Amino acid sequence: MKTLHLKAMDENAVNEITKAAEILKNGGLVAIPTETVYGLAASAFNESAVANIFKAKGRPNDNPLIVHIAEITELEKIAKDITPIAKKCMDSFWPGPFTAVLPKTEVIPASVSGGLNTVAVRMPNNPVARAIIKKSGLPLAAPSANRSGSPSPSTANHVIDDLDGRIDAVVISENCEVGVESTVVTFATEPPRLLRPGAVTAEQLKELIPDLIIDPAVTAEPEKGVAVASPGMKYKHYAPKAEVIMAVGSINSFCEYCNTHKADFDFALCYDEDEKNLLIPHLSLGENENHEKQAELLFKYLRDIDKKGYKRVIVHAPLKEGVGLAVYNRLIRAAGFKVIDL
Ligand code: TXA
Ligand code: MG
Repeated sequence: MKTLHLKAMDENAVNEITKAAEILKNGGLVAIPTETVYGLAASAFNESAVANIFKAKGRPNDNPLIVHIAEITELEKIAKDITPIAKKCMDSFWPGPFTAVLPKTEVIPASVSGGLNTVAVRMPNNPVARAIIKKSGLPLAAPSANRSGSPSPSTANHVIDDLDGRIDAVVISENCEVGVESTVVTFATEPPRLLRPGAVTAEQLKELIPDLIIDPAVTAEPEKGVAVASPGMKYKHYAPKAEVIMAVGSINSFCEYCNTHKADFDFALCYDEDEKNLLIPHLSLGENENHEKQAELLFKYLRDIDKKGYKRVIVHAPLKEGVGLAVYNRLIRAAGFKVIDL
């Protein structure tokens, strides 16, 4: 398949946006930019298009997709039993990097929801994404536009590296500013539960949902054989080909450990504060407390590590606060839950 490259740097690229919307209406797959990561979109109402998303990504069929809308009036068509607290969160965080899991209506096919009776819904704020959704007139099912298991794409080039020739079109636009996927909260259970941390932080959520539960799978490996609230959490994820190990500890203990185990690692992912004492090749994700910067760089760096051919990589664990919790959640999965306590 020849993948069409459509350049739309903003919402005024009318021809490209119209073309992308036409392909979606005809049941095709289009990779679109969002403020979090690139998404691989198809009509949420078209079962064969949805099946093609799973095929193009190599994604397990039981891992449900997020449905993207541009107007709040679309919500009641696809979700029901919306609680006041869910409504309050959507009012506060939409459009933006926030996904609400809600009881689904009949119109959402089982293939979109992975056979669950819920649907995940997000209203993105990226203007190109919004223009494409509006022009298509459809709710768009869109997982991250990467091959399943590999780091999510934060640039159009990442999408092209993974999916060129496997999808109908890619919309080439600005890099995704957040860099990690949206915060996912389920309102289908009481109290609501954080399933995946993102740029809308646990601290922000707790202001609106004081009894919010943080699912244990956010920071640890789900127990084997125990059902997880979000199917995506059970898979090894975001992983480069290199073996990654996450080390938890202070700047001093991290640098000392890396320097005394030089032979065991060919690369380190660290923070500015670690750099001056580190004797192995490394890249810094920015300042230890600049979690937004870390989120922006994370997937790009994991991809760069593979391009350079590193085999064993040690990563300094980020702080689990603010957007740092999202960075921690992605890194512990990239490490396949291999953690060293220093
Ligand atoms: O920022 C994002 O959320 C991006 C952009 C493209 O919007 N999308 C994204 O989709 O990250 P994906 O498919 O890569 O991740 C969706 C996550 C998965 O972990 C999935 O298991 C979970 O959301 N999910 C989807 N529907 C669910 C449901 N009904 N119940 C529980 N978890 C659900
Ligand atoms: Mg994904």
